[in-house]
Amino acid sequence: MALLPILRFPDPRLHTVAAPVAEVDDTIRRLIDDMAETMYEAPGIGLAATQVDVHRRVVVIDVSEERTELLALVNPVIVARSGEQVCEEGCLSVPGVYDKVSRAERVTVEALDRQGKPFSLDAEGLLAVCIQHEIDHLDGKVFVEYLSLLKQNRIKTKLAKKARITA
Ligand code: NI
Repeated sequence: MALLPILRFPDPRLHTVAAPVAEVDDTIRRLIDDMAETMYEAPGIGLAATQVDVHRRVVVIDVSEERTELLALVNPVIVARSGEQVCEEGCLSVPGVYDKVSRAERVTVEALDRQGKPFSLDAEGLLAVCIQHEIDHLDGKVFVEYLSLLKQNRIKTKLAKKARITA
């Protein structure tokens, strides 16, 4: 397994729309393993392939306290959504920035697992937020794009400053 570098907002590659995975093979399983290791190391509760500059529809999530419930979603599609919740979100691609985003309270997602087997999952609360946030990444969207342009510009300035200091 290997740790993968994470793209930082406003890197334009974060706006790439990821392509569907044609076959869940060993390359995809290795990607899932590397993404999981990168997510746990960061640490974060979710990571989309887009964030590690691989533009395929693969997501890993673990919202458990013990960090023992890894969920891998290949070609995830939200087939039902209901309700509304406002949650303070953060993102490994936007370090140090947290803000409120409104999303569906419950979603049903269909995906392939790491063996390529289709499954369906009903999620609510934090898991539902995380699924929506990660699928947004696959569609080239970062959560800060839900915020006002003023806030987005402040975040860009803040991250650019931080990049200069740590470079
Ligand atoms: Ni994110």
